[in-house]
Amino acid sequence: MRAAVAAVTPDKVDGVSYDLVIVANRLPVDRVENADGTRGWRTSPGGLVTAIEPVMRANHGVWIGWPGGTETDLEPFEHDGMSLAPMTMTPEEIEEFYEGFSNGTLWPLYHDVVGKPEYHREWWERYVSVNERFAEKAAGLAAKGATVWVHDYQLQLVPEMLRRIRPDLRIGFYLHIPFPPAELFQQLPWRRQLLEGLLGADLVGFQLPGGAQNFVRLVRQRVGHRTQSGTVFLPDGREVRAAAFPISIDAKGFEELARKPAVEKRVEAIRTALGNPKKIFLGVDRLDYTKGIYARLRAFAELMGEGHIDVEDAVFVQVAVPSREQVEQYRILRDDIDRLVGRINGDHGRIGRPAIHYLHNSYPREEMAAFYRLADVMVVTPYRDGMNLVAKEYVATRYEDDGALVLSEFAGAADELRQAWLVNPYDINGMKAALLEAYRADDRETTRRMRAMRRQVTQHDVVAWAEAFMTSLTDLDGDGPHSTIVKPPKR
Ligand code: G6P
Repeated sequence: MRAAVAAVTPDKVDGVSYDLVIVANRLPVDRVENADGTRGWRTSPGGLVTAIEPVMRANHGVWIGWPGGTETDLEPFEHDGMSLAPMTMTPEEIEEFYEGFSNGTLWPLYHDVVGKPEYHREWWERYVSVNERFAEKAAGLAAKGATVWVHDYQLQLVPEMLRRIRPDLRIGFYLHIPFPPAELFQQLPWRRQLLEGLLGADLVGFQLPGGAQNFVRLVRQRVGHRTQSGTVFLPDGREVRAAAFPISIDAKGFEELARKPAVEKRVEAIRTALGNPKKIFLGVDRLDYTKGIYARLRAFAELMGEGHIDVEDAVFVQVAVPSREQVEQYRILRDDIDRLVGRINGDHGRIGRPAIHYLHNSYPREEMAAFYRLADVMVVTPYRDGMNLVAKEYVATRYEDDGALVLSEFAGAADELRQAWLVNPYDINGMKAALLEAYRADDRETTRRMRAMRRQVTQHDVVAWAEAFMTSLTDLDGDGPHSTIVKPPKR
């Protein structure tokens, strides 16, 4: 792996090099077809863009990432005031790097092996070569002493590869998903290379303190470096810090959206279309086996079967956003959920009143805000989740301090949203009890809980997250030629 990375001279976009370089597998834009048939870009709805965009603007930044698909003639471009440098991906790279090693090996391994990870040497080799391409691209665009912020499990080798080409850079890495305990990580045939890849960064950020601790312990055991609490001491004198930075959402933006008259109108339209049930349960997830969709729908169906909930009183709306559809485990999950929803509706539905309204689709932020406003009980029950931003989005839209959140203990968000009805998603009876309690809770109880959760989410928003990471990265010890990153103006 070491010899393969070539020295790169800055290739700059239009002769410019950047003081801040964001490197993520995905670009923050999606391809769209314009009315006149031409193709354009639209900013993706995710919260990460909201967080990073202001930092990019204030710092003359560029974002390197893959826009999806296999287009090959992609030039760097500006979108919405952001400089974007697209990475291409061949069909083999999509199959072996993205679907294979990233989502068939690392994703299930890092999520408590909820799905079975597959270990294939060709997938690993492709992971190495794609990480090299990202590192070379970043090396070519970063100004002298620039800051590079690398994101997520698809790019864990980039920090070390980049440092070898450009030792002048300040490098941060942030993992958006959980970092597993040593007992699981150990399975990985390339465990040492991944740890060394991450150690190329000056700061490695995790969602929770437990992830940082797992990482430091593994570095000590598997790589043999000396460590002290969150710091790793490398033999060459360099220090790497590992710490938790729980990610969040644009809470203010979500609340503003939820208050829009157009969204309020949409809430009423959807409620009418659902047949005006007294209460609405809601699930919103990427269609992923880590999310616990199957078990939650079963729990709801059992409550109906036992007569605790009547379909004339309550329905369940489940939004499942299509995801990674070429990966086998995701296809199986889709079939399983299709069958289960069909069975539940067959057993408990009445004419014009299905028990589960199942939507396999993705929606713009406005529509999501309307769904959140509509939900009396929001059900977020992953088996394992780095954070889960849906839970925080729900809380942000409940500006009247109402609505109940049922939340898995195994979502990172459970560390902050302590006033939710916390459940173990493996315990169906426990989940049924919590669903029923949340369904029957009186206004005083829901208000007490929601008020506390709203305080947490509004005070710890995504801008605070980005600032905390950036401050920690730029305040690190060392007096190299690093430029100082400018914080975005306060909102
Ligand atoms: C998770 C990961 C992201 C990823 C997203 C969507 O949130 O942490 O890195 O981009 O899922 O998945 P996709 O495979 O479509 O990029």
